[in-house]
Parts: sequence; C-alpha cells; structure tokens
Amino acid sequence: MSKEKEPGRPRGREEAGLVRFSVSMPESLVDGFDRLIEAQGYKTRSEAVRDLIRERLVRREWEEDDRPVAGALTLVYDHHVRGLAEELTRLQHEHIGLVVSALHVHLDHHNCLEVLVMKGEARRLTEVSDRLIATRGVKHGKLTFTTTGEKLA
Ligand code: NI
Repeated sequence: MSKEKEPGRPRGREEAGLVRFSVSMPESLVDGFDRLIEAQGYKTRSEAVRDLIRERLVRREWEEDDRPVAGALTLVYDHHVRGLAEELTRLQHEHIGLVVSALHVHLDHHNCLEVLVMKGEARRLTEVSDRLIATRGVKHGKLTFTTTGEKLA
C-alpha cells in the first residue's frame, strides 16, 4: 500500500476525467482502513475508496423504489414438504418477466438450493422474494440486490 501523501489540491479536474480531492479523518480510522484494504488486496487507497462509493451508489439505486435493479434470491428448502416445489414454481410463473433465470442444485436427499436471478423494480423484487421466502418449507432465503450496470462507469 502506498502511504505517500497526495498533493493537497482542493478539487481539480485531471486528465482522463479523473477528479482528485482530499479527505480529513482521524489517524486511527485511516490506519484501520489501510489494514482492511491491504488484506483485501487493494494496491491503492484510491481504488478502495472508489469501490466504497460505487457500493453506496448501488445501494441507493435499489433503495429507491421503482428504479430498475437486478438481484439474486437464494432459497434453501426441503423438496419433500408437500406442495412446496409446486408453489415455488407457481409463484415464479406468476411473475414471469421478473424472474429471468433460475439455478437448481440438489444439495442432499432432502435439501434443494435455488438461485433466482431477477430484474425489475426494486420494490417488486422485494415483494416476490418475500412471498417465496415466506412459503412454508423454505428454510432460508436471502435477496441480494445489485445494479443493472447501466448508470455505473
Ligand atoms: Ni432439488
């Protein structure tokens, strides 16, 4: 990790559309950040900060209700529970267009893992995921949002 001090220009435009700015924070915070990002394999603070900002922008994107997002819902369930697999399939067909792909893995004799890739309004992804997760026999479910990528550099 490069510890060299960046020149203290207040805020200026550079070549290739890059903007340099300086940030003040407690030394202990910087030390903790440096340890974290070094362990993560970042070569520079700048790249780590860019990723943090991207992460926050992505989160804002899916927090805003009707904006288009992509997401992955992971479900673990026992396919021996009567009617469960049929109900999960029915719910997915009911929201055709929202669920764009599905991956099914038979984990063991009882348990199945499904990953549903979805694309649409964040609010609708959440609604459908909640119904799938709440279906009797589903042991665990987690929706992870990401971006459609269209508005990120
Ligand atoms: Ni299975």
